[in-house]
Amino acid sequence: MYRLGYDAWGDGNGLDAYLATCRASRKYAEGVWWIHAAADGAPASALLSHDIPLPSGSPAVGLGSIATAPEFRGRGFASRLIEDVIVRHERDAGTEVFFLFSDIAPAFYERFRFSTVMPCPRKPESLLMARAEPKKLAGLLAHPEFQIPDYF
Ligand SMILES: CC(C)(COP(=O)(O)OP(=O)(O)OC[C@H]1O[C@@H](n2cnc3c(N)ncnc32)[C@H](O)[C@@H]1OP(=O)(O)O)[C@@H](O)C(=O)NCCC(=O)NCCS
Repeated sequence: MYRLGYDAWGDGNGLDAYLATCRASRKYAEGVWWIHAAADGAPASALLSHDIPLPSGSPAVGLGSIATAPEFRGRGFASRLIEDVIVRHERDAGTEVFFLFSDIAPAFYERFRFSTVMPCPRKPESLLMARAEPKKLAGLLAHPEFQIPDYF
């Protein structure tokens, strides 16, 4: 599963070194991994979700590390996975707010009703994006106890 994003996040390291970094990652260990398998059961696309505490106490979810194996790209795997994970959280936990940090053109995530909030303070080339009802999101961002998600 960790191999799926190796070409994007390998940083020139060999595969073994990259996999060792993934296995040691706290953010990877603490999140929940969701996988869209190909017909033969191999992981085609994966993403990580983290629960995020909101000042209101209502649940929010941060998505990340979205990657599809190079040979499966452009076949809708990531799109279906993102939609499925959102629907499951909405249905099972009543989640109304989703966040992600985009390293790619935000138009990809705008398809799933994410909008750009701000550049990530720690990594300005990534954009913090949110999916929520606009009034709810505005209220949340203006809340004095709201903290910018820091799960990545
Ligand atoms: C981005 C990524 C997850 C898309 O996965 P996928 O399974 O190919 O996505 P889908 O088939 O559901 O959707 C394909 C669409 O994504 C778009 N897309 C792919 N890479 C993109 C990029 N870097 N920027 C913007 N859009 C991109 C394609 O243009 C395509 O658009 P189309 O439907 O109009 O042709 C995949 O390219 C990937 O793993 N990239 C490396 C890891 C990465 O950068 N992840 C995102 C981190 S924020």
